[in-house]
Amino acid sequence: MLADLVKRSQPLAADAKLLVLGGGYSGRCLGSLARAMGTPVLCTRRSLDAAEADLLFDSNGQDQLDPAALEGVTHLLSTIPPDRDGNDPVLPKLLPTLRNLPLRWAGYLSTTGVYGDRQGGWVTEEDEPAPALDRSIRRLNCEAAWQRSGLPIQILRLPGIYGPGRSVLNGLQQGRARLIDKPDQVFCRIHVEDIAGACWHLMHRAEQGPSARPGNWTVVNVVDDLPAPTAELMRHAAALLGCALPPLEPFDQIVDSMSPMAQTFWSENRRVSNHRLCQELGYPLLHPNYRVGLQDCLNQDKLNPPDLPSPPRSTNG
Ligand SMILES: NC(=O)c1ccc[n+]([C@@H]2O[C@H](COP(=O)([O-])OP(=O)(O)OC[C@H]3O[C@@H](n4cnc5c(N)ncnc54)[C@H](OP(=O)(O)O)[C@@H]3O)[C@@H](O)[C@H]2O)c1
Repeated sequence: MLADLVKRSQPLAADAKLLVLGGGYSGRCLGSLARAMGTPVLCTRRSLDAAEADLLFDSNGQDQLDPAALEGVTHLLSTIPPDRDGNDPVLPKLLPTLRNLPLRWAGYLSTTGVYGDRQGGWVTEEDEPAPALDRSIRRLNCEAAWQRSGLPIQILRLPGIYGPGRSVLNGLQQGRARLIDKPDQVFCRIHVEDIAGACWHLMHRAEQGPSARPGNWTVVNVVDDLPAPTAELMRHAAALLGCALPPLEPFDQIVDSMSPMAQTFWSENRRVSNHRLCQELGYPLLHPNYRVGLQDCLNQDKLNPPDLPSPPRSTNG
């Protein structure tokens, strides 16, 4: 629950002001935390009709962000993914404006996909990225652009994001979850509130003098403690919901019928370490594993039922 994060967080300095470029799922969660901690926030979205849209920013649109609207921004998070050509949509449009801000911390949400396939082995930030998929190559290109930006940047590499309204629980409830068994395959994940919590923690550390500044830890993996097979999660989620599991599908028997996108999802196997975030930088995870995280999703979904598409109709009436 966000309230738990708020309870254990310290406020930023009184002059802090946060700009979230891309107030989507993760961006809005950080925005809510900052507001609850008394820090003013500006969130951009591609439409001013979208929830919590303070400012319009669409890299493909005609309207430019007015630099006057960003006056006094001290902290920045960009959640905006690469464009189709592998370029960052933000920097070509906004870098001169961002460079004029009194920024003390800038975060960029990237992905652990940049590590490529590790055949189930562990990877840390010290390992050279080895992206094989086009989307991960594009992402590494954007990381490099942010690193060259001259801003006080920290790159946060994320695995699969889940949270209220966006978890395996919702997939099961809607009847669209598939129980796929691929022996020895694991995935890493992170609860959306731990993305917000980690950003907040890193912003704080950036205020605490040179040894705690981003330059020393430019890249940080933000993942939980427990890489695990998706089938294990699904069994746990079905038990929490008290519902039946979908039929077990052996990966080898269905791989040829999967979409190319789904095939790429299953083509890489790695365990991503959070040692830097949790031990060196001292961030305590709010949801250290999927068991804690899914229980939280269940509780929050009960309080605020997510607006999900209807489940498919049963064929036997
Ligand atoms: N989902 C995952 O499991 C996962 C895993 C690893 C990494 N990531 C990456 O982590 C970041 C945050 O993920 P998320 O799930 O929170 O993303 P999200 O909900 O899709 O939010 C992305 C934000 O980027 C904005 N945006 C997209 N294209 C834009 C453009 N051309 N110009 C301006 N704004 C643009 C969107 O605007 P609107 O609000 O108007 O839609 C949205 O606010 C993303 O970069 C994502 O690719 C995601």
